[in-house]
Amino acid sequence: MKVLAIFGSPRKEGNTAQMMEAVLSEFPKEAQIKRVYLGELNYTGACATRDCKVLGYCPVQDDLTPVLKEMIWADIILFGSPSEFADVSSEIKKLMERTWFMKGALRNKIGGYVITGRRYIESTINTLHAFMLRHRMILGCSGALGYTFTEMGSLEYDPLALRDAHFTGKRLVDLYDIVYKGKLAEK
Ligand SMILES: Cc1cc2nc3c(=O)[nH]c(=O)nc-3n(C[C@H](O)[C@H](O)[C@H](O)COP(=O)(O)O)c2cc1C
Repeated sequence: MKVLAIFGSPRKEGNTAQMMEAVLSEFPKEAQIKRVYLGELNYTGACATRDCKVLGYCPVQDDLTPVLKEMIWADIILFGSPSEFADVSSEIKKLMERTWFMKGALRNKIGGYVITGRRYIESTINTLHAFMLRHRMILGCSGALGYTFTEMGSLEYDPLALRDAHFTGKRLVDLYDIVYKGKLAEK
């Protein structure tokens, strides 16, 4: 089980990261988990030359280049994003743009997500769903939402946040068993 966890907040140990770790704690010991902290990387969004359509790879070379390869490596891709101005973080959005060349490479990968924020979260959900469906990924679950009641936020006021994150992890593991082993594991 190869898992790529894409942490999309500039705050490495913020609310989104806590939710992500709760999801990841549900994966079995043998899972290979790679964590990517987008806030630590220096990269751009799409260059929009359309060169990638011809080349079959993204010609922009920067800190995101290995991450794009890891997306193709993974069986499960887990996104974590704070809601920022009613959408995914700019870190996540730039990464999404850079996957334009992938043409089917993410097909049937299992996708999950966590989002934190307090309002206008709906359009953040839509962006993640649209990305995964556009890539023909398998949308693993309804995601986990963490309501952070103040601007910097704190998850402690939302008793459902971490619970839903654990549910998300369990659901992704179940789906992995169904898709890759053809049946649910004995529990
Ligand atoms: C630039 C910026 C824009 C934000 N816009 C929204 C928003 O539209 N809706 C919302 O609910 N929260 C918004 N927030 C608050 C964050 O989503 C919230 O504090 C989140 O939990 C931060 O996640 P982190 O702790 O992982 O960084 C915004 C925060 C920043 C920095």
